[in-house]
Amino acid sequence: MAHLLSTSCSLKLPYGQRSSTQSFSQRLTTCPALFTLQSSMIPSTRIVVRGSRLQKKSFVCATFVSQEAPSQTSSGSHQFSFEPSKSQRVMVIGGDGYCGWATALHLSKRGYEVAIVDSLIRRMFDHQLGLDSLTPISSIHNRLRCWKSLTGKTIGLYIGDICDFEFLSEAFKSFEPDAVVHFGEQRSAPYSMIDRTRAVFTQQNNVIGTLNVLFAIKEFREQCHLVKLGTMGEYGTPNIDIEEGYITMTHNGRTDTLPYPKQASSFYHLSKVHDSNNIAFTCKAWGIRATDLNQGVVYGVRTDETEMHEELCNRFDYDGVFGTALNRFCVQAAVGHPLTVYGKGGQTRGYLDIRDTVRCVELAIANPAQPGEFRVFNQFTEQFSVNELASLVTKAGEKLALDVKTISVPNPRVEAEEHYYNAKHTKLIELGLEPHLLSDSLLDSLLNFAIQFKGRVDFKQIMPNVSWKKIGVKPKTVAA
Ligand SMILES: NC(=O)c1ccc[n+]([C@@H]2O[C@H](COP(=O)([O-])OP(=O)(O)OC[C@H]3O[C@@H](n4cnc5c(N)ncnc54)[C@H](O)[C@@H]3O)[C@@H](O)[C@H]2O)c1
Repeated sequence: MAHLLSTSCSLKLPYGQRSSTQSFSQRLTTCPALFTLQSSMIPSTRIVVRGSRLQKKSFVCATFVSQEAPSQTSSGSHQFSFEPSKSQRVMVIGGDGYCGWATALHLSKRGYEVAIVDSLIRRMFDHQLGLDSLTPISSIHNRLRCWKSLTGKTIGLYIGDICDFEFLSEAFKSFEPDAVVHFGEQRSAPYSMIDRTRAVFTQQNNVIGTLNVLFAIKEFREQCHLVKLGTMGEYGTPNIDIEEGYITMTHNGRTDTLPYPKQASSFYHLSKVHDSNNIAFTCKAWGIRATDLNQGVVYGVRTDETEMHEELCNRFDYDGVFGTALNRFCVQAAVGHPLTVYGKGGQTRGYLDIRDTVRCVELAIANPAQPGEFRVFNQFTEQFSVNELASLVTKAGEKLALDVKTISVPNPRVEAEEHYYNAKHTKLIELGLEPHLLSDSLLDSLLNFAIQFKGRVDFKQIMPNVSWKKIGVKPKTVAA
């Protein structure tokens, strides 16, 4: 049973004892050439400088109300090992982010008992780089208060860094999750390619964070199902069909089913490959049950829950570091900036609507992997080339009397610009996913959304400015 904490309790985190798992804020604060961090940038996190060391107090807050048990899907092939009378407790790591926020609300609405774990570092990246979401986003505390007042449902909140095992252990012991959905990573390929510091941070944050989650499950909740967000980018762009996680091959007359080859194309994507390997290994060695959701590029902003109130509004990134292709094009069209196609524009990837992200996660939780099983689902619904997206946005823009132009900009990435791409994505459909495909009406509404907030667009953030080839060891600072 989760502890019922009506007030905050503070945990002292022994940062002096950490070396490789130091928090990024600590490392940056000890790196004078980079940025001066204001502690107010990280709500609910205090950083106190003592000599050359830092001490951080992280506040673990959790309040829960009992809720009805979630309805389970019709798939009878998987059984929960959890007591059916109890509602399932789902820990959403990274629940203040783009996918995580929408998912936390969706699961709460569906009757799951939800707690968010987040260091709020994504908000700090914006402060560091001078970026902002197109949409104004409320603090996590106001978001959760608003949700409670609208629905009567409480979502627990644990603010801290999952690279800190003491913090994560306390959160696990207090909340006792039946499933953990892990979105809590640095998720931008360009961010990981800014300089050495960001490359190292990305891999430490993501790989060590995930390792800690695996150890926490082993130590405190052996039966807990890990639902981990991977990315389709782990596979790269091979000249053969992409399977869902595994490929059966015959070599020199012998046949085996092996993990599908990975060809990551940034330090960020590589961190996801390392995560997948660590998870697969612990499933085998410790009997952990895990689902790796290799997600495509997410677009859209509204879900049934986030549109209930403006305080629940999700973030919408359009800048060259965190913005994703279709979202960026819609904002560019709305403000009259030419659509920025990188190179030849034949780069093809899987895409999905954020409403399908939340549903896929729900399906994965409701149909858990078996103990020891490392399951991989390719989580996207349609594939498009960048040129196809540009042409769809141009057509949709014409209907709204927007004069949409496209330019080719030098590709800052190292990637194939014309290639074969055919990725399988049937497993989530088999579990019951009914995709929201990219229709004219959806594009209209996305464009209208971008138009509604176009006054908030900072033109300086639109062009890409991180080059894969120019990455170096020198810390990159950001001009005012
Ligand atoms: N957005 C996409 O298009 C997309 C596509 C494929 C895969 N994914 C994957 O989905 C996940 C979520 O992506 P998103 O777009 O919501 O990202 P996001 O940056 O909006 O959210 C990530 C959240 O995790 C938190 N976080 C990061 N490191 C943490 C740590 N060490 N401890 C605690 N919290 C931490 C951040 O503060 C943030 O709130 C990522 O793992 C990403 O790789 C996203």
